[in-house]
Amino acid sequence: MRLSALAFMTEVGAEIFTKLLKSDYVVGGKSALFIGGQGSGKTSILWKFAVTKLSQGELVIVRERDIIQTHRIPGWEEKVKFFAYKKDKLRFVRTYGTMEEELNIKTTKYITTRDILKHLEVGKINAIIEPTTYKFPSWAIKDMRRRLEMEERDRENFDPNNRKSAYIWAEMLYTITHRHNTIFANLFLDELHEVFPQKAIGMQWYVNQWATFNFADLRKMNVNFFGATHNLGDIYYEMARRTNIIGYLRGAKMPPRLSRYEVYLRKPGKMILTEGGAYGLAYVQPFRTEKEKILIERKF
Ligand SMILES: Nc1ncnc2c1ncn2[C@@H]1O[C@H](COP(=O)(O)OP(=O)(O)OP(=O)(O)O)[C@@H](O)[C@H]1O
Ligand SMILES: [Mg+2]
Repeated sequence: MRLSALAFMTEVGAEIFTKLLKSDYVVGGKSALFIGGQGSGKTSILWKFAVTKLSQGELVIVRERDIIQTHRIPGWEEKVKFFAYKKDKLRFVRTYGTMEEELNIKTTKYITTRDILKHLEVGKINAIIEPTTYKFPSWAIKDMRRRLEMEERDRENFDPNNRKSAYIWAEMLYTITHRHNTIFANLFLDELHEVFPQKAIGMQWYVNQWATFNFADLRKMNVNFFGATHNLGDIYYEMARRTNIIGYLRGAKMPPRLSRYEVYLRKPGKMILTEGGAYGLAYVQPFRTEKEKILIERKF
C-alpha cells in the first residue's frame, strides 16, 4: 500500500521527533535548532522538551531572560532553580495589568560556570540568569588561546577584557564538555542569535570559534543542545552547520524543497523537522499561556 504524502511526512516527522528526545549512550548528545517567526511556538517547544527531559531524570539547564519565561511551566515555583551572578542585584517583579508585586525568589549565586556546574540539580529546571556584564575567567582565556592556536598577527582583536552577558554560554559549552560525569545533560538556549551571532566582530568572533570547538564535543559528552531563533542565518554558520536536527516553524525561511509544506505550519507548535536529508511534520502542544509577566529588574 502506498502511503499518502501527508501520512508519510507525519510518520517521518514522528520518527525524527522520537529520536530527538530519546537518549542513547551509544549515540551520545544531539543538537537541535528551532527556527520560526514571532509567536510560532519556539519557546513553548523548548520548555516542553525541558519538562520531558526533567521527567527522564536528566540534567536540564536553560537560558533565562529578563522577561522570565520559565514561569510558563506549570508548577514552576517548585520545578525551577534560579541561578544569579553573585555581583548582580536583582529584583523579581510580577505584573498583570496595573498590578505589580515584588516576588521573593531565592537564587543560587555563581561567579563562573564552574560554580553553576557544582550546584546544578537533577530533578530541577536549572534556569541561569545571565550576568549584567561578564568577563571570561583566566582559565577560559587560556583555553581559548590554546584551542585557537593564535599567532601574534591573529591576536589583534582578541581582547580578554571584553565583556558581554551572553559570554557565559560560550564558557558553559567548555565547562559542560569537561565535566567528570556522563549523565545526560540538556542545554536550552532561547534567542540563540544573542549568544552566537553570525554577525560577529572583535572578541565575539573568537568566542564563536572557541564555542564551535566545544559544540562539536557535546555529542561525546552526552550533552543535548536545543536552540531557538528567528533565522538560521543569524546564528554563527559553523554552529548551524553542525546541528543535527532543525525544526522549521511558521514564518521560518526554509530550504526550497520544504517550502511546499509551509501550508501545514499555520498553527503555532507545528513544524517541519529535518535531519540531514530526511524531513517530516511534527507538532508540540503548548502549555497554557500565562497572562502574568515576571520581570527581572537589575540595579545598576
Ligand atoms: N503548540 C501550540 N499550539 C497553540 N498555541 C501555541 C502553541 N505554542 C505556542 N502557542 C502560543 O503562541 C504564543 C507564542 O508562543 P511562544 O512564546 O512559544 O512563541 P515564540 O516563537 O517563542 O515567540 P517569540 O519569537 O516572540 O519569542 C503563546 O501565547 C503560546 O501560548
Ligand atoms: Mg520565544
